[in-house]
Amino acid sequence: MPIILGIESSCDDTSAAILSNQKILSNIVANQEVHSLYGGVVPELASRAHQQNIIPVVDAAIKQANIKKHDISAVAFTKGPGLLGSLLVGTSFSKGFAIGLNIPLIAINHMQAHILAHFIDEDQKTPNFPFLCLTVSGGHTQIVKVENYNKMTIIGTTLDDAAGEAFDKSAKILGLPYPGGPLIDKYAKNGDKTAFKFGKPKIKELDFSFSGLKTSILYSIQNYQKDNPNFISKNLENLCASIQYSIVTILLEKLEKAIKKTGIKEIAIAGGVSANSYFRSTLKKLSNDKKYNLYIPKFEYCTDNAAMIAIAGHFKYLDKEFSNHTETPQASLSF
Ligand code: KG4
Ligand code: ZN
Repeated sequence: MPIILGIESSCDDTSAAILSNQKILSNIVANQEVHSLYGGVVPELASRAHQQNIIPVVDAAIKQANIKKHDISAVAFTKGPGLLGSLLVGTSFSKGFAIGLNIPLIAINHMQAHILAHFIDEDQKTPNFPFLCLTVSGGHTQIVKVENYNKMTIIGTTLDDAAGEAFDKSAKILGLPYPGGPLIDKYAKNGDKTAFKFGKPKIKELDFSFSGLKTSILYSIQNYQKDNPNFISKNLENLCASIQYSIVTILLEKLEKAIKKTGIKEIAIAGGVSANSYFRSTLKKLSNDKKYNLYIPKFEYCTDNAAMIAIAGHFKYLDKEFSNHTETPQASLSF
């Protein structure tokens, strides 16, 4: 069985992982604190931080896996989608590493990798094909019909903001630092989700929209603040719970629609927002009530990580789907 080095650098996490026989031997993630001051990822700062982090992160992944670099069979790297300056760091490093060791290079789609994280062997139940995956991250919101490891079709997508972006932009309105998603999750735990109501999008079929929700949140808060300048601090927990409820409700309504439309009852979630505790618990309850088989990745494989790039590389390695050294990263990459 191959030993795969996975490299992820699409946004603001520099990560390297070693995978052998679908099992993770190491998965090192260096987060970039620098962006919290700016309310979002600053692309130029992200690529600089990747440059600083990439070699120590790969070195740590190889050491922690207790292997030698000559044991590695192939390098899998994120080709896109993502920030071009960030992708370039991982791509260039991976090419150099593969050429140096004379091993194959494998280009990976980041969004497909989020889905394939379900197949990292943790002695858990894995989804049966075909399954539906609701992939919810900072840059994307997609419902994907997954027919095989390498055969996936997007059947619904966002027309504007992604669900993670809706969390982060709402958090910014509340004065919380980036990334705000986990903070909304935290404060919402003690809040009343019915305290505030925000506008709901009317989008056809399986597509999503979150930009109207963000505007509705902004205008209602500005209105309340006219009478009470301390409105946000006095109502933070209720606001977080209501915002979280609105976003998760939009996601779940479309997922249910997709289940009805396709008749598929094998349901998976993936991407950073699938770390949200309310989303996870509501979906668990729903799947129990409606008898869906639900698959939720381990917490550390929800947000960006190289373990998912390595598992995607594993399946491409078995299919001998290798890239050549002229491969270039792509900021917008669909499938
Ligand atoms: O998949 P990911 O790590 O990176 C992208 O590919 O975009 O997703 C990051 C997104 C961010 O928007 C972040 O706020 C959101 O996932 N996120 C959460 C939670 N943890 C991460 N959103 C809500 N609740 C969470 N617990
Ligand atoms: Zn991601």
